[in-house]
Amino acid sequence: MVELIIKKRDGFELTKDEYQTIIDGFVSGNIPDYQISAFMMAVFFEGLTNSETANLTDIMMRSGELIDLSEIEGIKVDKHSTGGVGDKTTLVLAPLVAAAGVPVAKMSGRGLGHTGGTLDKMESIKGLSVDMTRQEFIDNIKKHNIAVCGQNANLVPADKKLYALRDVTGTVENTSLIASSIMSKKLACGADAIVIDIKVGHGAFMKTVEDAEELAKIMIGIGSKMNRKVITVITSMSQPLGFTIGNALEVKEVIDTLKGNGPEDLTTLCLELGSQMLVLGEVAKTQSEGIDILKKLIDSGAAFNKFKELVKAQGGDLNVVEQTDLLPSTQFSEVYKSKSEGYISDLNALDIGLASVKLGAGRETQESVIDHGAGIVLKKKIGDYVNKDETLAILYSNNSVNFAKANEFMDLVYKISKEKPLVKPLILKTIT
Ligand code: URA
Repeated sequence: MVELIIKKRDGFELTKDEYQTIIDGFVSGNIPDYQISAFMMAVFFEGLTNSETANLTDIMMRSGELIDLSEIEGIKVDKHSTGGVGDKTTLVLAPLVAAAGVPVAKMSGRGLGHTGGTLDKMESIKGLSVDMTRQEFIDNIKKHNIAVCGQNANLVPADKKLYALRDVTGTVENTSLIASSIMSKKLACGADAIVIDIKVGHGAFMKTVEDAEELAKIMIGIGSKMNRKVITVITSMSQPLGFTIGNALEVKEVIDTLKGNGPEDLTTLCLELGSQMLVLGEVAKTQSEGIDILKKLIDSGAAFNKFKELVKAQGGDLNVVEQTDLLPSTQFSEVYKSKSEGYISDLNALDIGLASVKLGAGRETQESVIDHGAGIVLKKKIGDYVNKDETLAILYSNNSVNFAKANEFMDLVYKISKEKPLVKPLILKTIT
């Protein structure tokens, strides 16, 4: 291992066998964490060639179970987001695309740091379970064209261990390592094609469009080496998506969107990503045809009906979906007011995500219990004018002590200016 660390430190390319040795040794515990940490830091500074990235991805992907979706007919198209605040896209897209005829086999994650997770959002629906056996998952897709479940512990164990180490050794922010981490998990899930939403902005891993483009190209390259089509859409995470942050609050917004009454940014993003999924799934010939199909499914109620079918199939209480005031709520709420007047020129997604975690909507440690009703509803977004003392947001929590902690972050969220700011477009670039 010392020789391999030195080889990478000195800028040389490693062979596939050498990566196999490193990953096998790390997963089995034969190579200690301190040597893997040193190796990751060498990678961080020296980078990986495209061929090394593809080899590392392939080896990580094979470190655990590979999901075989071949018994499900049709082109299976997966979707991934690199993570954002208020990003409830999966819960809109999955039923929408399934209603259009593309089988959706979705394995999702839980909230991480300041970003939320699809599974936590779904569990705010009473009774709904995201735990199922592999066969139940496949059977649900065959019957309903959709299933959403958690990733089991044996899916890409090498990434689980490596990501935990990168997280505490300052080696997360390397595009090759991020690409291999995401792609190893997506490829192990067995889809034929993947649409990836790469978020850019202060609420996201990628801070610039240039970095996001580099990540996009690496992921597309890995996909093509593995015979999977990958489309990447680079989107802005300079402010939260929609108006809600927090699990039950976001489910309500998902339902509104599926019924055609959702916020414009969320609806636009779902139509953009969804239409790409229809093209990859060969249900639409062009993106604009895909958008037309999806709009009709929303207008006819078919998209919302598919969501209800998903909820019912996974044991959820349909009354909660029909009457969203039955979703978890909170005992306490507090209004957050503007301290000055002017245009909102910045609405920091990272800090608002952290404020929502303090309210109980996310986890501070892996053991934290989520308060499904907790979160934030935005009343204003970038470009809106506010008067002094006008409401910017409403905070919700079941623990009144949380408001003071959340407010410390809320005080960092907004920038108010005299000039009306230019609102950046949501969809920045599509790379196919
Ligand atoms: N998300 C992942 O799954 N892996 C990374 O390395 C970064 C973000």
